[in-house]
Amino acid sequence: MARIIDSEEQKEDIFEKNIRPESLEEYVGQAKIKENLHIFMEAAKMRGEPLDHVLLYGPPGLGKTTLAHIIANEMNANIKTASGPSIEKSGDLAAILSTLEPGDVLFIDEIHRIPSFIEEILYPAMEDFEIDIVIGTEGKSRNIKIDLPPFTLVGATTRAGDLSSPLRDRFGIINKLEFYSDEELKDIVIRTSHVLNMNIDDDAALELAKRSRKTPRVANRLFKRVRDFALVEGNGYIDLDITLKSLERLNVDKYGLDTIDIEYLQALINKFNGGPVGIETISTAIGEEITTIEDVVEPFLLQEGFIKRTNRGRVATDLAYKHLGIDHYQGLFD
Ligand SMILES: Nc1ncnc2c1ncn2[C@@H]1O[C@H](COP(=O)(O)OP(=O)(O)O)[C@@H](O)[C@H]1O
Ligand SMILES: [Mg+2]
Repeated sequence: MARIIDSEEQKEDIFEKNIRPESLEEYVGQAKIKENLHIFMEAAKMRGEPLDHVLLYGPPGLGKTTLAHIIANEMNANIKTASGPSIEKSGDLAAILSTLEPGDVLFIDEIHRIPSFIEEILYPAMEDFEIDIVIGTEGKSRNIKIDLPPFTLVGATTRAGDLSSPLRDRFGIINKLEFYSDEELKDIVIRTSHVLNMNIDDDAALELAKRSRKTPRVANRLFKRVRDFALVEGNGYIDLDITLKSLERLNVDKYGLDTIDIEYLQALINKFNGGPVGIETISTAIGEEITTIEDVVEPFLLQEGFIKRTNRGRVATDLAYKHLGIDHYQGLFD
């Protein structure tokens, strides 16, 4: 099911390359990461070396892919891209590595999904710019070493915890992307409105920002849908009135929660008494995959304080009860 506020990439987002900022300067928010990267990149350029390997992690839609491309731009380097799930055999990875040219940025998305026996090929590649490969068949096989040019690996993952520690240790620069503030998201919406040539009032942009689950991808997607409403049913530009009407039609509530979030909270409260309950149980109850719940639904609910994670499972907070309008009886001995 495609959710309007899904922070994971959907097909139509692929055509949005033009709304991606291309320089560090245009990249909104993430101030600390930007400051540090700026220094590391300048220093690498002064030394005439590629940047050290960079790991970017955080929930979907916060700007990891965008940042990887910006790093390549700022380093005046070419970028080659691959993704964890598409690397199934050691040969796949060796083939990618052997196309690298000096200074290239190799961006591997969902890097936690590279099978571990293949991941080991990355260790010498990252550390010493060389790979060991086995050629020939059993009995007659031999190992050969291939030198690689110096390059920068940029890895992105939604799950830093799933990364093996030998791999994680080989990244010199590790950045966790944070959720965005409403003001930052408002800037992103306004920036997108300029790129797409459709003006939006400040108060409307702020309203979209507030309902975007602190996530740029969601902000941009909401903007595009509201733009459609404004075009067909409004007067051609986006004001607060058409924004509020569109959001209502899109079923996005004032916290940016949509049907799945609400189902999650309702299941937690009504079926499991507010928890604690395990993720497998919730997953079955609402018919959503565990990975979707863990990567997309829960990070925002946790961040906003609708749920808590305990070692016995997920628990609904008072805010969740209040938001759903359900009385929360707090027993004397709870
Ligand atoms: N800091 C930012 N400033 C402006 N736009 C951003 C920023 N981060 C993300 N975006 C926008 O949000 C969308 C999703 O970003 P992306 O880099 O694909 O996220 P991720 O790879 O983390 O899932 C992109 O279209 C991009 O234009
Ligand atoms: Mg991405």
